Amino acid sequence: MGRLRLGILASGRGSNLQALIDACADPAFPAEIALVLSNRPGAQAIARAQAVGLGTGIVPHEAFADRESHERAIDAALAGAGVELTCLAGYMRLLTPWFVERWRDRLLNIHPSLLPAFKGLDTHARALAAGVRFHGCTVHFVRPEMDEGPILAQAAVPVVPGDDAERLAARVLAAEHRIYPLAVRLIAEGRARVAGERVAIEAPAPAPEGLLNPAA
Ligand code: GAR
Repeated sequence: MGRLRLGILASGRGSNLQALIDACADPAFPAEIALVLSNRPGAQAIARAQAVGLGTGIVPHEAFADRESHERAIDAALAGAGVELTCLAGYMRLLTPWFVERWRDRLLNIHPSLLPAFKGLDTHARALAAGVRFHGCTVHFVRPEMDEGPILAQAAVPVVPGDDAERLAARVLAAEHRIYPLAVRLIAEGRARVAGERVAIEAPAPAPEGLLNPAA
């Protein structure tokens, strides 16, 4: 069976793209990156993709009259590359319902919080301000409402004494780099599917006793 063809949309640094590049470098990984697109010409994500010879494209949003025409250009590029699953990886633009519905159940996002907590921006500072003991990240299927959609995978990290937003962000980011490839693998292997706006998964269950913070 062929590898699942991924399209990646990224606006910036591209460290989640890099995690997917690294995962796909293993021939046993069941997906491959067909195209990396950015709305920003200078995005580090594009340099990372070019460094390993991946197909890239820049679709600057300023060049289009409205959001939907921008997204029609993105959609055409993805279709042209035979993309089967699109992954948002630090893509910092809201997508129209048109695009989201066109890619329904074939569009993933990674968000730096344990959704549905802390949708939106500045998630790490807000988690610290709220005093939560665990924070983390979520991979979910995209729906038209921001940071909504069936949850595929989450990773929790502890908030520890002395954390500031930067230290907490680094801890969450390391977890992001683990769960995005995991989520893609589950889809590519046919072990995750949307059923009634939840994700049914065939995968090992985590330890049922859970984690404590502070530790007992
Ligand atoms: C990541 O932390 C990702 O979860 C977040 O942006 C960062 C991108 O980093 N995404 C969002 O906040 C989306 N709402 P990266 O470019 O190094 O992958």
